[in-house]
Amino acid sequence: MENKRKLIIEIIIEIIIALLVVLLAIFVIVTIRENNTLELNYITVNNKNLPIEFEGFKIAHVSDLHNSEWGENNERLINLLKSSKPDIIAITGDIVDRSRTSIEIAIAFVREATKIAPCYYVSGNHESAIPNYDQLEKGLIEAGVTVLNNSKVEIKRGSSKIIIMGICDPTLVVDEKEGYDEKSITSDLISKIEYREDDYTILLSHRPENFDIYKKKKIDLTLSGHAHGGQVRLPLIGGILAPNQGFFPHYDSGLYEENNLAMVVSRGIGNSSFPIRVNNIPEVILIELNKKTD
Ligand SMILES: [Fe+2]
Repeated sequence: MENKRKLIIEIIIEIIIALLVVLLAIFVIVTIRENNTLELNYITVNNKNLPIEFEGFKIAHVSDLHNSEWGENNERLINLLKSSKPDIIAITGDIVDRSRTSIEIAIAFVREATKIAPCYYVSGNHESAIPNYDQLEKGLIEAGVTVLNNSKVEIKRGSSKIIIMGICDPTLVVDEKEGYDEKSITSDLISKIEYREDDYTILLSHRPENFDIYKKKKIDLTLSGHAHGGQVRLPLIGGILAPNQGFFPHYDSGLYEENNLAMVVSRGIGNSSFPIRVNNIPEVILIELNKKTD
């Protein structure tokens, strides 16, 4: 009787171990597959200030490439961008990675991207950390990219316009190691760009943790990245960890709106020091502008 009981317990333990091994194998296969998938996600942003001529305007939002390559010459990423038929492409920083910097990969990507639509770019914290940022910026401009580090452009349709503006990562103007106030630098950088609050304004800025500043500056739509979706995403909870936001970051993915002011945070495409994403597929976001009529 005792032997029979022992045998049953052993069989149950073996079944549990076998199930755990199967679950672990499924998790590994799914994670590897997800890390090699590139998603196109859609977000519609409604705003009553949008000029009617820009109804349906499409922005392909690319962030945090970190020198990742999707097929030869980034063919998969380029094809995804082509198929999304954007009016413009917004690149919100960390196009290179500080620990395996390849300016060539970044420039090869934008050379193809500028054939699809006008490209606008701001730098991220990784560009601040490389010794040859000037070389990268020169290459981007030569490839036809508009570098919006602390500047703006107007896009016109008929008699109306929208403003596309951008700020560099605060670490490009002040060394992080020397101790600095990220929020006041961010605020100053935006203030130095002359724009009218009643124009429809889109800001490219790498860091989503400063949504409070973007709202104070009455930016209609901010496009950010940096958080990498919190790297590991838990169902119902979201991201686990993001730079400058710590554990369980508030701004890590998707659309945030308050008082007719919005921010879209891309989970990004590449990785930095932590090379694996979990439940967090690399993404390009296609943002469509919609005039709110209430
Ligand atoms: Fe990044």
